[in-house]
Formats: sequence, structure tokens, C-alpha cells
Amino acid sequence: MDLFSSINLEPERQHMEQLANELERLNHEYYMNDRSLVSDEEFDRMMRELQDLEQRYPELASPLSPTKRVGGEVNKTFRQVVHRFPMLSLGNTYSIEEIEEFESRTRKALDGISFTYTCELKYDGVAIGLTYKHGRLVQAVTRGNGTVGDDITTNAKTIPTIPLHLTGNYPDDFEARGEVVYPFEAFEAMNTQRETEGEEPFANPRNAASGSLKLQDSAECAKRKLLFCMYFMMGPDETVLPDTHFERLEWARQMGFKVQPYIQECKDITEIKSFIDHWDHARWDLPFGIDGIVIKVNQTPLWDRLGLTAKSPRWAIAYKFRAERVSTLLESISYQVGRTGVITPVANLQPVHLGGTTVRRATLVNADFIQKMGICKGDHLLIEKGGEIIPKVVGVDMEQRQAGAMPIQYITHCPECGSPLVRADGEAGHYCPNSDGCHPQIIGRLEHFVSRRAMNIDTLGPERLELLYSAGLVHNIADLYDLKKSQLVGLGTDATIQDKGADNLMAALEESKNVPFERVLFALGIRYVGEVGAKKLARYFTNIEAIMQASEEELSQVEDVGEVTAHAIHEWFTHPEHILIVERLRKAGLQMTLQQSDGDHKLDGLTIVVSGVFVHFSRDEIKADIEHHGGKVSGSISGKTSFLLAGDKMGPEKRKKAEKLDVKIISEQEYLEMIGD
Ligand code: IVH
Repeated sequence: MDLFSSINLEPERQHMEQLANELERLNHEYYMNDRSLVSDEEFDRMMRELQDLEQRYPELASPLSPTKRVGGEVNKTFRQVVHRFPMLSLGNTYSIEEIEEFESRTRKALDGISFTYTCELKYDGVAIGLTYKHGRLVQAVTRGNGTVGDDITTNAKTIPTIPLHLTGNYPDDFEARGEVVYPFEAFEAMNTQRETEGEEPFANPRNAASGSLKLQDSAECAKRKLLFCMYFMMGPDETVLPDTHFERLEWARQMGFKVQPYIQECKDITEIKSFIDHWDHARWDLPFGIDGIVIKVNQTPLWDRLGLTAKSPRWAIAYKFRAERVSTLLESISYQVGRTGVITPVANLQPVHLGGTTVRRATLVNADFIQKMGICKGDHLLIEKGGEIIPKVVGVDMEQRQAGAMPIQYITHCPECGSPLVRADGEAGHYCPNSDGCHPQIIGRLEHFVSRRAMNIDTLGPERLELLYSAGLVHNIADLYDLKKSQLVGLGTDATIQDKGADNLMAALEESKNVPFERVLFALGIRYVGEVGAKKLARYFTNIEAIMQASEEELSQVEDVGEVTAHAIHEWFTHPEHILIVERLRKAGLQMTLQQSDGDHKLDGLTIVVSGVFVHFSRDEIKADIEHHGGKVSGSISGKTSFLLAGDKMGPEKRKKAEKLDVKIISEQEYLEMIGD
């Protein structure tokens, strides 16, 4: 260590620490106690000063500095982590009778022991677990499938209600669990902004919270105004925690967590029911969404006595509120044209409050749906919204039906290009067949092609594609690779694309030539061929010719490729213009063959047990992959097992056995890292 510089920097270190402590204190007062002790300008000034100092002396910057709340770090991928303690789910019900049954079952099982319940809100967001060691946040992980979640620490640090350092007394090592929710006001503001920027709005606050935690740019996550509601505390040493859930949460509050005050100790079913009744109405006055009430046995030593079922504890249950339903006027219907030409009718509704947000639109799916519902002009529609779903039209409010109301006349021509619509046999929807001349289809296909999960050419947003199209330079995806820099410079009314921009675009197109075959196949935009389907097709057929020449029957041999998809793929390749596009893309240098690696010896000598469902592999594929890398697959766990590879929905018995025999459990992500994928 350079002794001189460390001595010389001591005043700076002290100043930075002081600034950090003060910012953390102000942050805590603001978000936890609703107290603003300095002006926003003063706060920002201090934050900037600390940021500048950290930039100047990165060796003095703390990983838990309040500057982390502003974000800035970029998450390339989210590492998958096996939970130290599995994140169980709760048994849930919509029926009060079942809550009564839960209560009497619990009372009987506890056979005369005196105990109480806690009733609290069931926050409608994303469950995460926060690990604290020596009072410092060390890791934040999403629930995932309960066994394996995503490491979202960087983004979690930007949430002001997640303490980075704890105050007062705290256990040395524990996990705080809770829900990240998106408060309604912030959610609506964010969605409005997205819409004005031409981005797809989020369907509901829960999806938005989940999407925010998975943002690559933590600075973007910092802007999202998420809220963490803590509801659970556990640790490797339960003896250091209080004996009631209520006291645990109270303690957590003193450590600096935001624990909502709406928790009540209830002594019997009457008190439980009145808590539920109250919140069934009062929930809409909350600034964030809840989808039910959670009832837990308060005395934690009784939890072990009550035990677990396959995946949820017997000492707790969730009562879920029924989806709220409203009636509102159907003002008009818009018809949207998708990239594959499919027409989607959308109901424009008189704005109505539902489930904490304002609903203005809802899909009417297709012509069949409108007919089955018997929707007439001027009708009021019944709209429902459950916790996780987007507003749904569930029927017509017949009480408000006008006399002589006329059924909706479905359009016969494309609203964008005027072509007569086609309805294929056996299909419920109409589509516009003018794929080469219908504007939203052309642009939609280009947008899909360049999108992140396809070719990932992020320099080409919707506006630029529009520009290239209207300049007559790009009409289809193959045209992109004929672009020349000289054609790009100065394009746009006020020369939107300049020299540097043109260079970047050319470089991004060049870079996209390395995108693997399965993503190129997905990017082609063949109807029903999603990301997973494309991957499976690529693995099965290994190159584009084989897919091109395959019969419908052969295509449907592929896992996850049904008859409809097989037909769509086969049909797509009967068009000479599509063959030409594929040829041009190949000539341009795009990957049209699966890159296969020869078997290696990375797993030599290892015996692996596989359990659960995987994202990147089917069961057979993962077994073949292990063998390909020299490993041995075994059906049962024993002392000889090297590790248990855990996917989604892994059986609890397997986990227990692995833990008992001290067999390491690894996630799919860790496996991929091991084999260097
Ligand atoms: S307690 C073992 N309390 O509901 C019990 N869960 O299926 C641990 N949730 O995704 C859960 N609010 O994240 C508990 N006040 C609350 C909750 C809550 C929401 C979520 C939880 C989980 C689901 C339970």
C-alpha cells in the first residue's frame, strides 16, 4: 500500500464519510419519516460533491455509498443465485370459509396452546430477499422460482426505502424479505411518459416493478420511485430474533426498514374477518396496490410445530381480494395492425378508475370475441382487473343497453392501407394480406428485426427506421445491409443523422453479423416463431436450408412447435420474396448455421442430478449437454453426487436430501457459467 497517499488522503476520506453519513441520514428522514431537513438543492449539491469526490478518489468510495442510490452501474446480466433459505409461497384463497377453516385447523393443531395471529397487507409487487451482514446490505435477490432468483443488488441499492446500513441493534447475519411495489402515482406518471415517448406502457404496477428491478441501467431504476415494504425476517440463528412476528417487524422498523403500519395482532377469527372487511374497501385509499391480506401465526416458535406443506407453511395463509369490476362506456373501437398483419380491435373507453389505475383502453381480441360478447354500439362494457392481469372486457352491462342498439360492424378493409381483410379458415382473427405495402407491417417487421432480443441493433429506433423507410432506403430487413454511410449522413429534416451517427449505425449493422443463428431465425419475424421456438428449431435443424426444406410434419417434430406454427413456417418459405431476403441476409454475412462446439471435458468426473424445469434447455437437452461436456447424469442424490442442478419447480424432497447430504445446489446460470456458455 502506498503509505504516503493513504496518509495524505485521510482528510478527504473523513470528509467523504461525513458527507455519506449526512446524506444517508437525510434520505432516511425523508423516506421513512416524511421529514425534509434541507432543501432539494442542498441535498443535490451534497450528493454531487460526494459523486465528484468518489470519481476523484475511487479507492475511497464505499460500495454502500448513498451515491449508489442515484445508480449509474450497468447490469450486463443478472447473476442467478440459489437462495440460502428457500422463498416459500403462501397458500391462498378467495373464500372466507377457507380462512375460517385455516383458523380452526391451526387452533386444533396447537391443541390448547395460547397464541395470536398477525394480519397484514399482501403487497402486490415483486418479492425480494435482502441479506445483511454486520449491519450492511450485501445482496438483494428476487424470489425467482423460490429456489433460484436473480441478483439485483445494484438496482436494489437505488430504492430509498432499502437501508444500505442499519441503525441501532441488529442481528449480525439475517435476511429481510419484502415486496418491491410501484406506488400508483409514480406508476401512472411513468406510463404517461412512456406513451408520449412511443414506448409500450406497462400493464400494471406489479409488471412495472418487476421490469424496473431488471433494468440494465441502475440510474434508470433510480428514477422509478419504487417502494420496499418489508414483511419478514429470518436468519441462520433464529435464537437471536424475537419470538413473535410482530416484534420482529417492530425491530426491523428500528433498524431503518420501512414497515407499513397496517399490521394488527388478532386474537380470533372475528378480529381477522373485520381486518379483511376493512381493507377490502380501504385498500383503494392506499398509495400502492395490495391484492389481499396475509394472516400468520404470531408466535414464531409455533411455526416449526405447524410445519410446511409441499411448498407453503401451515402457519400462514393469504386471503385474496376478488378482481374489481366496473362498467364504462365504449366510446369507439380502434383497429391496430401488427407486424404480421393481424388486426386487433381495441375498445376506447370512457376513462374509469379500476384497481388503482385509470383504464382508457382494453383489447377486444378479435371479431369472434366481439360477436360472442354481443357488443353493440353505445354499450357499457364490464371491465375487470385482477392483481396480475391487464384490464379485461368480461361482458356487456345489459342494464345500460340502449333500445335498438346495433351490433358492431367489424371492419372489412385494413384501416392503414385499405386492402380487403382476410380471415383464414379456422382462425378467429382477420389480417391484412398486403404485407409489402402496409405501413405498420413494414415498420413493425423492421422494429422486430432490430429489437434487443432479435438482432439487437439499438442504434435503430422506431424514428430512424421510419426515416430510412420514408427516404426510400429501407423497405425490408435485407435492405438494411445494403445501406452505405454516404446515404445516411444528413438524413432527416434537420439532418438527424450526422457523420458519427452514420458510423455508429454502420458499426452496429456489422456487429449484428455475429448474432447467433437462433436469434436471426427469431428476427425473421415468422408468425408464431418466438424466441424459444426459434432456439429449438435451430438446435433441431442446425441450419436454415434444413428448415426451408422441412415439411410441416417434420417441423412439428420439434418440441414446442405445434401444427399451427409448423404451418406458418412452411407457408413463410413458400414465398419467393422471403427466400430472396434470406439469401440476401446470408450474402451480407448473417449467421445461418448453428454454431456447435465439439464436446469438451469441462465436467469430467462429475456426477450431476438434474431437477426441475429449465429456461434454456428441455430435460433431454440438459442431460445431453452434461454428457457432451464429459459429465455423468444420475437420477438420485447420494454421497457421490457432485452437485444438484436446480431448475424451476424443483421438488422439495430433492432439495431436502441435497441439504442433508451437503450436496451443493447450483442454478442454471451457474451451470452455464461452468460450461462457459
Ligand atoms: S409472508 C413464508 N407477508 O405473497 C411466508 N408475503 O405467496 C412468506 N407477499 O410472493 C411470505 N405481502 O412475496 C408475506 N405481508 C406479506 C406479503 C407477502 C406480499 C407475497 C410474497 C409472496 C406471496 C406469497
